[in-house]
Amino acid sequence: MTNNKFPSISIVGATGAVGKVCLDILAERNYPFEKIKLFASKRSIGKRISYKGNDLIVNEANKSSFDGSDVVFISADSQVSLDLAPAAVNSGALVIDDGSAFRMKENVPLVVPEVNEEDINSHEGIISIPNCTTTPLVMALSHLRKISNIKRIQASTYQAVSGSGSLAVSELKNQTENILNNEKISKSVYPHQIAFSLIPQVDDFLEDGYTKEEHKMVNETRKIMHDNNLNISVTCVRVPIFYCHSESVSVDFEDDIDIQEIVNLFSNADGIKLINDGKNENYPTPSMVEGKDDIFIGRIRKDLGSSRGVNFWLVSDNLRKGAALNAVQIMESAIKLGKIPNFVG
Ligand SMILES: NC(=O)c1ccc[n+]([C@@H]2O[C@H](COP(=O)([O-])OP(=O)(O)OC[C@H]3O[C@@H](n4cnc5c(N)ncnc54)[C@H](OP(=O)(O)O)[C@@H]3O)[C@@H](O)[C@H]2O)c1
Repeated sequence: MTNNKFPSISIVGATGAVGKVCLDILAERNYPFEKIKLFASKRSIGKRISYKGNDLIVNEANKSSFDGSDVVFISADSQVSLDLAPAAVNSGALVIDDGSAFRMKENVPLVVPEVNEEDINSHEGIISIPNCTTTPLVMALSHLRKISNIKRIQASTYQAVSGSGSLAVSELKNQTENILNNEKISKSVYPHQIAFSLIPQVDDFLEDGYTKEEHKMVNETRKIMHDNNLNISVTCVRVPIFYCHSESVSVDFEDDIDIQEIVNLFSNADGIKLINDGKNENYPTPSMVEGKDDIFIGRIRKDLGSSRGVNFWLVSDNLRKGAALNAVQIMESAIKLGKIPNFVG
C-alpha cells in the first residue's frame, strides 16, 4: 500500500485534448512529475510532454501498463476504456473514466463532486465522469431543486469543437483558414462545414429523432440526481468556437418562484460564478470562461409565460470542469473518503 501525499497516476490519452488539460491541472496543484505516467496509442510512443520543467515520455497503453498505479485516468475512446479499465482495476487501481463506456452501468458511480460526492463510496473500481454538457447542468439543477420540485427542464446547447477532441479543433482551424483564403474545405470529423456555420447534431442520431448526445444528457442527469422520472429534454448543437460549451436552460417548478432566491442560491454555490447584470451587458461568454474552473451563470430571468419558470444561460470550459478538472476532483474526493484501494493519503 502506498502511503504518502500523492497517489501514483497513469493517464491514458495523455496526448489528447482532455489528457493535456489534465496535466495542466495536475501542474497547477504541484503534482510531482515522478508520480505521473503517460500513455496513448502506438502512434505516440516516445513522444515527450513537458511537465513543470521535466520531460515525461509517452508509452503505448496495454493491459500490463498499470502495475504500481493507484489511479488510472482514461481519456481516450470507449473501446480503449472497455479494453483497459478491467485490467487496471485488477491491478488494484481506481479507474476514473472520461468516456461514455461505463457511465450508465449500475455499479459505476457517475460523479460531479459538488453534487453527488457520496456516490464515490459505492465504487467497485471504476468511477465515470459525465458528458461535458451534463456536468454544468446538474451543478445548476442540484441547487434549483432546493427551491421547489422541478416539473420540467428544457435545454439547448452550444458546444465547442474541442468537445469532439483535438482533430475537431484542427478541422475548425483549417476550414476557417481555407474559407478566408477562398480555398476548398475538407471535412472528416463533422458531416457538414463547421466554420462560419453550426450543426444541429452532436453524435449519431437514434430512431426517436434525438441524438446520442441528447440521450446522454437526459440519462446522465437523471442518474446523478437520483431521479429516474426527471422530466428533461434537450437539443444539442455544435458551434464554430474552439473552447467552452454554453447552454440555454429553462426550468419549470411545481410552485411560484422568486428570482432573487435563485440568484442568492447560485451566488453561494461551490463551483458556480454569477455574471448576471444584463442591463450593463454583463453575462458569461465562452471567451471569458476559457481556462476557468468554475461554471458561469447569467441572464437569470423569470419565464415570460409562467410564474413558475426560470430561464438562464450557463457557460463552462468543457475541457476543465466538463472533463479533466472533474476527473481530478473525483480523485481528490476519493482520497478524502479513503476510497482509493491501494492508497492511504
Ligand atoms: N473533449 C471534451 O470536451 C470531453 C469532455 C468530457 C469527456 N470527454 C471524453 O474524454 C475522452 C478523450 O477525449 P479527447 O477530446 O481528449 O479526445 P482526443 O483529443 O481525440 O484524444 C484521444 C486520446 O486517446 C488516445 N488513444 C487513441 N487510441 C488509443 C489506444 N488504442 N490506446 C491508448 N490511447 C489511445 C490518443 O492517443 P494518440 O495521440 O496516440 O492518438 C489521444 O491521446 C473521450 O472519451 C471523450 O468522450 C471529452
